[in-house]
Amino acid sequence: MTGHRMGNFIATKEHRRFVEFVTAVRKHRYIGICFGPAGVGKTVSTQRHAKWDKAGPLLDIWGPRDRSDMIAYKALAQSRAAFYTPMVSEPARQTRDNLSRLMTHIEGCIELAQHPERRLPDGKGPDLIQLLVIDKAERLSAQALEHVRDLFDRTGIGVILIGMPGLEKRLERYPQFYSRIGFAHHYRPLQGDELTFVLTRHWRKLGMTLDDADFTDHQAVASIARITGGNFRLLHRLFVQIERILKINELSLVTDEVVEAARSTLVIGAT
Ligand SMILES: Nc1ncnc2c1ncn2[C@@H]1O[C@H](COP(=O)(O)OP(=O)(O)OP(=O)(O)O)[C@@H](O)[C@H]1O
Ligand SMILES: [Mg+2]
Repeated sequence: MTGHRMGNFIATKEHRRFVEFVTAVRKHRYIGICFGPAGVGKTVSTQRHAKWDKAGPLLDIWGPRDRSDMIAYKALAQSRAAFYTPMVSEPARQTRDNLSRLMTHIEGCIELAQHPERRLPDGKGPDLIQLLVIDKAERLSAQALEHVRDLFDRTGIGVILIGMPGLEKRLERYPQFYSRIGFAHHYRPLQGDELTFVLTRHWRKLGMTLDDADFTDHQAVASIARITGGNFRLLHRLFVQIERILKINELSLVTDEVVEAARSTLVIGAT
């Protein structure tokens, strides 16, 4: 899974809460679950924390060694984390094999970061990985969950499953797995000041200054909050349309009407 483009990453309060949760799972070596609605930023936060923008591309390709690989090795040596996304309807055997290959690769990378003089990892570095994060965890079958539990029991690393609300309910059906869950974290949409903060950045990108004390701005912010519910993905899509509407109409102000026109072009969230 290639890393998300991190250029416009915003360190939100939700991201910080997420990092606290991850830190606790690492420290206590528990299984943790993180659930939240689609598009709130779960994957972006995880990849950021796992430095997957640097590490992911190398692990995806894993070809002949290159000098630039050291950047990925170092990122992995810092994050000490593995990030995995199962495919839809992935057979359990494949999950097991992919995870084992991924972890071996990562251990090798961390070892080479720590011992740059080695040409090949000797594979004797235990405990190099502290954390395994599995995104889209609802895709794991009962058998795949059993593999993950086994991996957790054997290696003692922290494990995090990420998914939509309802994931925690589903896991209740697997008592052996469920009993190992130490933390559950709810990833929430942007709210209040935080949403205003993110919108301020969007306004700036459009070359404008958001002033919440200004009635027009205040109204536009209220509409955006209502339309997106603080959902990051929806917010981005809405702003693509806002930008387009401003341009074609040669407008220089984000008004309620502009927001409304942008909303009407979106397929979802148009309620
Ligand atoms: N911290 C952030 N800073 C900037 N943009 C963000 C941030 N978090 C999320 N986004 C934006 O929101 C989009 C959706 O985020 P993300 O893919 O992480 O959602 P998700 O919770 O994993 O959703 P899903 O459940 O559908 O997988 C991203 O593609 C990105 O454009
Ligand atoms: Mg996601």
